[in-house]
Amino acid sequence: QRHLLGIEPLRPDEITTILDLADQYVTFNRSRDKHARALAGLTQINMFFENSTRTQSSFEIAGKRLGADVMNMAMQASSIKKGETLIDTAMTLNAMHPDLLVVRHPHSGAVDLLSQKVNCAVLNAGDGKHEHPTQALLDALTIRRAKGRLHRLNIAICGDIAHSRVARSNILLLHKMENRIRLVGPSTLIPSGIEHFGVEVYDDMRKGLEDVDVVMMLRLQRERMDGGFIPSEREYYHRYGLDAEKLAVAKPDAIVMHPGPMNRGVEIDGTLADDINRSVIQDQVEMGVAVRMAVMDLLARNLRANPKEIMA
Ligand code: CP
Repeated sequence: QRHLLGIEPLRPDEITTILDLADQYVTFNRSRDKHARALAGLTQINMFFENSTRTQSSFEIAGKRLGADVMNMAMQASSIKKGETLIDTAMTLNAMHPDLLVVRHPHSGAVDLLSQKVNCAVLNAGDGKHEHPTQALLDALTIRRAKGRLHRLNIAICGDIAHSRVARSNILLLHKMENRIRLVGPSTLIPSGIEHFGVEVYDDMRKGLEDVDVVMMLRLQRERMDGGFIPSEREYYHRYGLDAEKLAVAKPDAIVMHPGPMNRGVEIDGTLADDINRSVIQDQVEMGVAVRMAVMDLLARNLRANPKEIMA
């Protein structure tokens, strides 16, 4: 692959290749010497048109640990504020010959569009409600390490599915890897027709969590709700907030995940989120660096093997 725009085009064996390499980078990241050369000589630009804590910082750390020259574009201080378009901004940066462009944008499809205008590898760091591929890959690595496998697991994805690129990328990935996926949430936050993606839908959380191996919680994405259905936090927490009592119907060793940012007391009980016997939320953050290193390493190998592609 030249870019990483989504999970959709990836084959199961390609997902496994990424996760296997990421596993090696987990070990590397736990060592004292964190300097590698996989991206030496390459320039990585991070363009985040939406706020980020985890994704932006982990892409930056990943690039630096692999020896890239990393630049974080300060989008608030850029000429976007003077009316320059996304494409003009991208083409301006393209003229400086970056090798890797990491892009987050509020509009679905914007990163794909940008990838058609530049000569470098483009990585989607989240585009609107569409995809967040590195999040799904880091979630997959977290699950595989915790459960010892990434197939034939019962996985519940709970909450605001309708506005979530994390849910979409995870559904695509976990379905490709032959897991049973349940979507749990109020019908207003579950897109109609989603059953065609090979998932089961539950609006009763206690039924949805019965005997699952993995519980993945999602934030209410109010910024994407456009004045539509916005539940009261208290009512939402009562019915769909994960706490020890609701988790009790899952398997006794079920793990609790959340991509962050997390709203304690809205979609998840704070004590449960911090319970290291059940919650793998901090592991997800750790896996994020390793997965992003693996993805950029593999794209860089492709760039070096196909130099004409980058000059096209
Ligand atoms: N999970 C995730 O994308 O978090 P950030 O918005 O902090 O990057």
